[in-house]
Formats: sequence, C-alpha cells, structure tokens
Amino acid sequence: MTDRLTIALIYGSGRQGRFADTIAGWLEPELAGFGQYDIIRIDPAELTFTPGGLDEPSAERVESLILQADAFLIVTPEYNHAYPAALKAIIDCCFRPWHAKPIAFVSYGGVSGGLRAVEQLRLVFAELHAVAIRDTVSLPHAWTQFDPAGNPFRPGQLSGQLAMLMKRLTWWANALKAARIATRYDEVAA
Ligand SMILES: Cc1cc2nc3c(=O)[nH]c(=O)nc-3n(C[C@H](O)[C@H](O)[C@H](O)COP(=O)(O)O)c2cc1C
Repeated sequence: MTDRLTIALIYGSGRQGRFADTIAGWLEPELAGFGQYDIIRIDPAELTFTPGGLDEPSAERVESLILQADAFLIVTPEYNHAYPAALKAIIDCCFRPWHAKPIAFVSYGGVSGGLRAVEQLRLVFAELHAVAIRDTVSLPHAWTQFDPAGNPFRPGQLSGQLAMLMKRLTWWANALKAARIATRYDEVAA
C-alpha cells in the first residue's frame, strides 16, 4: 500500500521559551520536503490542561487527531530523566485510536539527547498496542546544535538520520494500515 500517509507530529514540551520551537523550525520543513505525508500537529502549547489532564474540548480534539493518524512522530525533550507531563496527558487522553499504529521519536535534551525519555515512552506505548520503532533522531546538548537563527550546524547528518527514520516509519505505517484494513485490530482477540 502506498497511499498518502497522515502523520501526527506530537510535541512534548509546552513550556514558554521552549527549545521545541527551534527543533520544529528545522523538522517541519524537512517533513514537508518529503512531499508524501499529510502532517497534523498536536502541540501542548495549543491545548488546555487541568489537574486531571486535558480539558474536554482539548481531549476531544486530540483524540480525533490521533484517530486520523496513520503514524506518529513524537518530538520530546527529557525532564528529570523522563518525558514531560504534558506529553503524558496527550497520550492518556485516548486508548483505541493508538492501536496498531507505529511511532517514531525525535528527542533532545542535555547529555542523553532525550533518550531516557524515549526508553520510558516505549514502555508506555506497549500498553497502548502501538509499535515504537527502533529509530530515534536524538539531539544531545540540543542548544549547541543550532545557530542563533535556528539552522542546524550539521544539516546533512540530521537530514540523513531523519530520512532513515521516516523510511522505516513509512514502512510500518503502510504495513499496519493494510493490516488494520484486512482485520480490525480489536476483533483479533475479542
Ligand atoms: C524541569 C527540567 C528538567 C530537565 N531535566 C533534564 C534531564 O534529566 N536530562 C537532560 O538531558 N536534560 C534535562 N533538562 C534539559 C532539557 O532537556 C532542555 O532544557 C530542553 O531544551 C527542554 O526542552 P524544551 O525547552 O522544549 O521544554 C531539563 C529541563 C527542565 C526544564
């Protein structure tokens, strides 16, 4: 199957002054440049949070975007060796719409490049019957990797890593889309 895929780009940080916007300034044009995806964006900065998670309108919006998506690209920093609470609230807002869909990561942070956050997310997504793929584009000491205008110092290397990740995410997205169409996932073990 080679239909156009819908990829949900999910940001983990909603912090004011977040570095996520620098990552987005590099990543979003790169994704558009592949020319083969419809990108939908889920951004904590555009959602409303309550002590219990997303408020109802935000949760409904996020659930419908997750339902539409064939695959997910999660862009997450690392906070105290974990992923941000805002990202967990987004993940927890629904269950079935995640099922049998692939997930890849772009991570960033200090020395670990956000990889400790990613490893924890793999455990979370197993519970959601989602497939976290092996590849991650990881940016250690992320703030040293971009000039003040937001241009990466090693654009070729980053683009190469992203291209590899997107090829594998696309393979999984097509395979799982075909499988979901052939057999409804929630009927497999009903
Ligand atoms: C509360 C907090 C905790 C952090 N903990 C870690 C950490 O454990 N490991 C790490 O590599 N970076 C850590 N950092 C650095 C962040 O990964 C880095 O500042 C990143 O740019 C944050 O993303 P954001 O600016 O998009 O929110 C932490 C930052 C914050 C704000």
